[in-house]
Amino acid sequence: MRSWNFYAGPAVLPVPALERARDEMIDWAGTGMSVMETSHRSKEYDAVHHEAMDLFRELLGLDDDHVVLFLQGGASTQFAMVPMNFIPKGGSADYIITGSWAQKAYKEATIVAKARVAGSSEGNGFVRVPEQSELDLDPAAAYVHITSNNTIKGTQYQRFPDTGAVPMVADMSSDLLWRPFDANRFALIYAGAQKNLGPSGVVVVILKRSWLDKANEGLPTMLRYGIHVKEESLYNTPPTFSIYMVRNVLQWVKAEGGLPAMERRNRAKAELLYGVIEGSNGFYRCPVEPGSRSVMNVVWRLPSEELEATFVTEAKAKRMFGLKGHRSVGGCRASIYNAMGIDGVEALASFMEEFAKKNR
Ligand SMILES: Cc1ncc(COP(=O)(O)O)c(C=O)c1O
Repeated sequence: MRSWNFYAGPAVLPVPALERARDEMIDWAGTGMSVMETSHRSKEYDAVHHEAMDLFRELLGLDDDHVVLFLQGGASTQFAMVPMNFIPKGGSADYIITGSWAQKAYKEATIVAKARVAGSSEGNGFVRVPEQSELDLDPAAAYVHITSNNTIKGTQYQRFPDTGAVPMVADMSSDLLWRPFDANRFALIYAGAQKNLGPSGVVVVILKRSWLDKANEGLPTMLRYGIHVKEESLYNTPPTFSIYMVRNVLQWVKAEGGLPAMERRNRAKAELLYGVIEGSNGFYRCPVEPGSRSVMNVVWRLPSEELEATFVTEAKAKRMFGLKGHRSVGGCRASIYNAMGIDGVEALASFMEEFAKKNR
């Protein structure tokens, strides 16, 4: 029996993607082995690897100048790799700070190069993302870095900033593939897979190939995007099982109707939860301003921390897991990524209504 899984990541995966892995665990593609036990140079693995890349291309409508990479070290390694590769000597990059992950990305950049804060919503407790008019963008910046969805604070850009001619880089770890968008506008997108895309162990990078002309030389091999582009993410042993699972997830996304279908479902789920919060006469309170509310991570508070703890405990008894807010902010959070069905959110919404009635 499946539980309702609201963990922020690693997170719920589509059942058909898991079932396929189960069915192929002992004998995959007629090899008499699992994908985990097969050479990454085999033709069977190569087909999975490239199918996963091609599915990204197709779902996102990538142009010929954009390549898909599968790297390791999580999104946290991208925090360092992006500035190492793309901030030139004497140059600087702009960072928009919208929460803890954006802060971490900025901090890593300052370790290896020069970076500046071009906008921040820290002053108002990160309850929204900055407006375009609040940004102080440097037209000479090597790039502008944003975090499209703030997993902990529950905020998300409804519309991406306009960075003019300056390349835009985005950490989309917690919302890549939640809806259609113009990915070709970005010089680089990265996402740890373990939220909306698959299991942990692989980070997906979408890179504008022509931007590599500006990449710094002299970096260790594994930290150079150029080598991974040249070798199609097969320079060294890739995380084959994670990539296989990402392929299974992407097949499911496509079969469900692609990104337009994901968006319709995700919006319906988020509306349901925010509706319960707003309709609770103040019992539940979402700290995030309506214009920045995340469709992926819905956060809310209850009247006291004691009630929050009781809420999480009673939810667990109903097989609803992962509803405790991030340890740095407290409160409650429901992560409702692509693979969370509307039925799970309906179950949570009814539980929230019941709980409010009982504890008001
Ligand atoms: C938006 C965002 N960026 C980066 C990270 C860090 O990812 P990883 O653990 O893959 O390094 C997370 C993890 O939760 C995240 O939510």
